[in-house]
Amino acid sequence: MSLIQLQNVSKRYAEVTALDRVSVDVQTGEMLGIIGHSGAGKSTLLRMINGLEQPTDGEVFIRGKNIAHLSKSDLRKLRSKIGMIFQHFNLLSSRTVYQNIAFPMQIVGRKKSEIALRVEELLDRVGLTDKRNAYPSQLSGGQKQRVGIARALANQPQIVLCDEATSALDPATTDSILQLIQEINRETGITFVFITHEMSVVEKVCSHVAVLEAGNIVETGNVADVFSNPQHDVTQSFLGLKPKKGGDRNVS
Ligand SMILES: Nc1ncnc2c1ncn2[C@@H]1O[C@H](COP(=O)(O)OP(=O)(O)OP(=O)(O)O)[C@@H](O)[C@H]1O
Ligand SMILES: [Mg+2]
Repeated sequence: MSLIQLQNVSKRYAEVTALDRVSVDVQTGEMLGIIGHSGAGKSTLLRMINGLEQPTDGEVFIRGKNIAHLSKSDLRKLRSKIGMIFQHFNLLSSRTVYQNIAFPMQIVGRKKSEIALRVEELLDRVGLTDKRNAYPSQLSGGQKQRVGIARALANQPQIVLCDEATSALDPATTDSILQLIQEINRETGITFVFITHEMSVVEKVCSHVAVLEAGNIVETGNVADVFSNPQHDVTQSFLGLKPKKGGDRNVS
């Protein structure tokens, strides 16, 4: 059984079709990269997986369960087992590193002693033990994202969704964050869905890739196959094999 399965999922916002009959299968332990231009529908797709948005058409299954049929409390439980990592970190500025990591565990009502143990473990894992009492404004971008990663892992998720997790970071910091994420995937078997607009990110960490263009998945497969034999124009242009055309769908 797939861990995550989208079946013919469409999402329409008034006259915009953000996703057009998208089907995706993700197996446990995979690192799926979703690549596409701005406006392709990447963030919309990610929000379908944790039930933050409902499809206009089609179905989303997590471990074979249709999430549209979950009770409110089961949906809440499911969400607490799906971590999120954001481009702009989304840390609570009035809380310390320790408190930011503890926060998702407080929300689900875990015991203080249990939280303390888990935060220490996570601080150690992301290399921020000496920053436990710092505030986000006192951290570098890379350190902030390490807090974001620790927070995403706090409730022992089965899935972590990353929306442009490294897009605000310089290349060296990007590499160190990608390496940390890859180590965590290997150590824990957590499944990652990784949105990006850079093929180099997919190449460095992902096992599988889906190329999204104007709400459609135009190519998908394991990274080695897609990189060695890209079929679609969009994939080829992301790989630098074709001049870029089109580009952003959003004209602002
Ligand atoms: N809440 C919303 N209301 C109306 N339109 C929306 C909404 N969310 C997304 N859209 C539209 O749906 C399309 C896909 O948006 P989405 O945010 O998924 O793209 P994206 O691939 O994540 O882009 P980016 O790389 O810029 O983050 C866009 O045309 C966007 O304007
Ligand atoms: Mg987006």
